[in-house]
Amino acid sequence: MCGIVGYIGKKQALPILLQGLRDLEYRGYDSAGIAVLDNGKIDRVREVGKVDMLAKKIGQVKIAGTLGIAHTRWATHGGVTEFNAHPHIVGSGKLALVHNGIIENYREIKKQLKNQKQESETDSEILGQLIFENYEGDLVKAVKKSLLKVRGTYGIVVMHADHPNQLVAARLGSPLAIGIAEGEYYIASDVTPMLPFTKQVTFLDDGEIANINGDGLKIQNMRDEIINKTITHIDWDQQKAQKGGFENFMIKEIFDQPTVFEDAIRGRFNMEEGTAVLGGLNMTLEQMRDIKRVIFVAEGTARYTGLIGKYAFERLADLPCDVDFSSEFRYRDPAVNKHTLVFVISQSGETADTLMATREAKRKGAVVRGIVNVIGSTIARETKAGTYIHAGPELSVASTKAYTNMVAVLLLYALQFGRIKHTSLATGKRLLQALLEIPEKMNEILKQDAAIKKIAESYKDYKSILYIGRGVNYPVALEGTMKLKETSYIHAEGFAGGELKHGPLALVSKDVPVVAILSKDQLYEKMKSSIQEVRARGARTLVIATVGDEEAKEVADDIIYVPDTMELLEPLLNTIPLQLFAYHIAVALGRDVDRPRNLAKSVTVE
Ligand code: G6P
Repeated sequence: MCGIVGYIGKKQALPILLQGLRDLEYRGYDSAGIAVLDNGKIDRVREVGKVDMLAKKIGQVKIAGTLGIAHTRWATHGGVTEFNAHPHIVGSGKLALVHNGIIENYREIKKQLKNQKQESETDSEILGQLIFENYEGDLVKAVKKSLLKVRGTYGIVVMHADHPNQLVAARLGSPLAIGIAEGEYYIASDVTPMLPFTKQVTFLDDGEIANINGDGLKIQNMRDEIINKTITHIDWDQQKAQKGGFENFMIKEIFDQPTVFEDAIRGRFNMEEGTAVLGGLNMTLEQMRDIKRVIFVAEGTARYTGLIGKYAFERLADLPCDVDFSSEFRYRDPAVNKHTLVFVISQSGETADTLMATREAKRKGAVVRGIVNVIGSTIARETKAGTYIHAGPELSVASTKAYTNMVAVLLLYALQFGRIKHTSLATGKRLLQALLEIPEKMNEILKQDAAIKKIAESYKDYKSILYIGRGVNYPVALEGTMKLKETSYIHAEGFAGGELKHGPLALVSKDVPVVAILSKDQLYEKMKSSIQEVRARGARTLVIATVGDEEAKEVADDIIYVPDTMELLEPLLNTIPLQLFAYHIAVALGRDVDRPRNLAKSVTVE
């Protein structure tokens, strides 16, 4: 939620800030602004709407300066107005601040301020004012003194007109990365804006303040102790964070799947022993055998991959599993102990609820492992052990390639546990072989894009669509609804096929079509009956069936064929037509597919 960019160096700041905001727009896009310091004066431009609107407003205005900060907003306190947009400037133009997070005690802080007149309704401006009032010539001291009074979360960057060569950044709960290049520094909520300039990055941890000035970068904690940070080399290719000729990020990322899937599984096989080798698990065989239960904790799409993980772990490793919303897990009294393995799954690695759940699980003594995409993100760092899914930058709010790569990693984990328990060598080898064949099979589905588009367009005017699946395809049905809701705003609900007759069937009519995943598994006949039941009630049906299944046509008004694979691997294929289906409906309805209304990709507030 909210993207922050800062630059200090020799180049002109404006183009770097604007491009940085574009890269971070997935984090929030209801308003944006920049502030650049030049000749002792801060120039600022803010605008409601997306970064393009801001760029348009700046137009030909000459904003020079080699030091600046910028922000793209996802409103929490205060409506979407220009006044509420960041950067906030306080102290008669002296101090500018951008903030990501929530200052919970801003009302109390406001009461203590000398200046009671704020321009905006935001908690962030109050923090800016507090810093200004605490300033006595040393910006770092002023920031520290103010933050000690704050309750809540923040990632902030501050500049002061009297310090033409200084940026101060601090973090508690909201991510900030600092890119280091020759004589210049980049600050941002994630590494994407700095990738064209540097791959050397350090990440601020909670309670740290970064002071960047002519002497370089110094990071300290709230007790004024200097922290020696490690520098991480980010091997993400900047090109991967661009659209590469596609209309928008979502379709590009859908088509990325065969390639990045290979990155998720590469080097993680031991074919001879029919097992996976995930170094990040970091457990001895003894410790693995000591695990008695597995819990998958995540939100949104990531949680659906956890549901798939449950099927895989139960089937291959014979371990009892639970799947929980991070937001529930952290507030329940989860019954976990040292025999419980908790997988926290997150594309961004910054989702506040999942981060808090991670800490809760660690506090209770569970074995916690992260399954994360964004390198160096907070959950990745706090779990220490775990596995990157290597999907590369995912910028569309609706997650696609991160989903498939999460599933891949979960299958590998399930196999690694399975092989020390009750999965045979032959099954292990078969599964690995089947995984190797997945990219080619994904490509076969993607080749049907034009046909899927045609089908999708004919569904665009329905007000509600139901999805059904069974077994490992039940989470696939749920993920299908998520993609449709997020991108097209059409109401959708997903059910386990067998549940239909226990209530949801009442929703079915000719105006409510049903998308059904009809896998050639043990429940094939039962699933077919469910589809027949909805047809008998007038519903139009779109069936995802296995290549060669001619019988499926008997229950389908529309049909999309996917290649055959091992049952546990089916989500890796069956989800793709549902992604394309949702995408094309959204485009046909004229939606902004990459940036759906009211959503943000990285939800760093509760
Ligand atoms: C937000 C996004 C979802 C995403 C969820 C979890 O709600 O809109 O698309 O699945 O967060 O995000 P994470 O980064 O933790 O996977």
